[in-house]
Amino acid sequence: MKPILKWAGGKSRLMPRLRPFLPAADCLVEPFVGGASVFLDTDYPRYVLADINPDLINFYQTVVDSPESVIQAALPLFKHANTSVDYFRYRTDFAQWRATRGLNRAAVFLYLNRHGYNGLCRYNLRGEFNVSYGRYKKPYFPAAEIRLFAEKARDTHTRFVCLPFEETLAFHVDERCAVYADPPYLDCFTGYYIAPFQDEEHQALTDALTETHLRWDVPVVLSGSNTPKTHAAYRGFTFHYTHTHCSSAAKGASRGKAGEVIATLPVRQSRPSTSEADGFLMDEWLEFV
Ligand SMILES: C[S@@+](CC[C@H](N)C(=O)[O-])C[C@H]1O[C@@H](n2cnc3c(N)ncnc32)[C@H](O)[C@@H]1O
Repeated sequence: MKPILKWAGGKSRLMPRLRPFLPAADCLVEPFVGGASVFLDTDYPRYVLADINPDLINFYQTVVDSPESVIQAALPLFKHANTSVDYFRYRTDFAQWRATRGLNRAAVFLYLNRHGYNGLCRYNLRGEFNVSYGRYKKPYFPAAEIRLFAEKARDTHTRFVCLPFEETLAFHVDERCAVYADPPYLDCFTGYYIAPFQDEEHQALTDALTETHLRWDVPVVLSGSNTPKTHAAYRGFTFHYTHTHCSSAAKGASRGKAGEVIATLPVRQSRPSTSEADGFLMDEWLEFV
């Protein structure tokens, strides 16, 4: 299943490498859901999908509540509003009415996502969406993806929550869960929502993930860029090595192929584990630090 939204840092391409490390559990908790590619490409009985971005969570919740209404509201924008003048007009309205939620905001969010530059989702310090116009000839309208997303979310009783990661981990994890964390990368593109995600946030995330892991004895899987900083920030995790494409260049970092790591905190008690992951580990282990 393909994501509805274009999302910088989306994990679709990493899934074949990531899947073997995602442990069996009754519920997968994702504190950084973004484009939801992990939700769409896994098979857990239940999910908690969280993100700090209220527009994103409003969008998903509206899609699940009424997929056909989202399609009807967004389709005319895709048909009749693909010029820079239209784009900036909708972007200005979206910024001006940033406290609103519901169907119209969800439809415009989808329009801005597919017509804006490169799947970026960026806000200024006032909380106004400020991605530039993408100049795409005919942006794809993801009607099929909207319907499939809604169906899967309903079948799995998925809960959508708009919270910072600390609160998702504190209030939405129990012993039946596994956690997959995909935070904005260190040394890569970091500005998804209003506040950037920097060294202190990565340190806070390490603490929160470790605490959650120890409290519930749940497995934790994290993805990050393969840099010494990531290894230092998440020391205590076991690192596995892979590659992906980092499509959003950071200040000073070049666009292109970037190393990617998958880091894990496995459970202490015996649980079903993926033998696939064991094989992968043997082949791909990298002593980085
Ligand atoms: C790398 S993206 C996740 C990509 C996702 N796994 C996918 O496959 O599309 C990181 C996400 O973290 C969210 N985010 C940033 N800071 C956050 C915070 N403090 N708490 C929760 N979510 C946050 C951003 O809004 C963004 O959607």
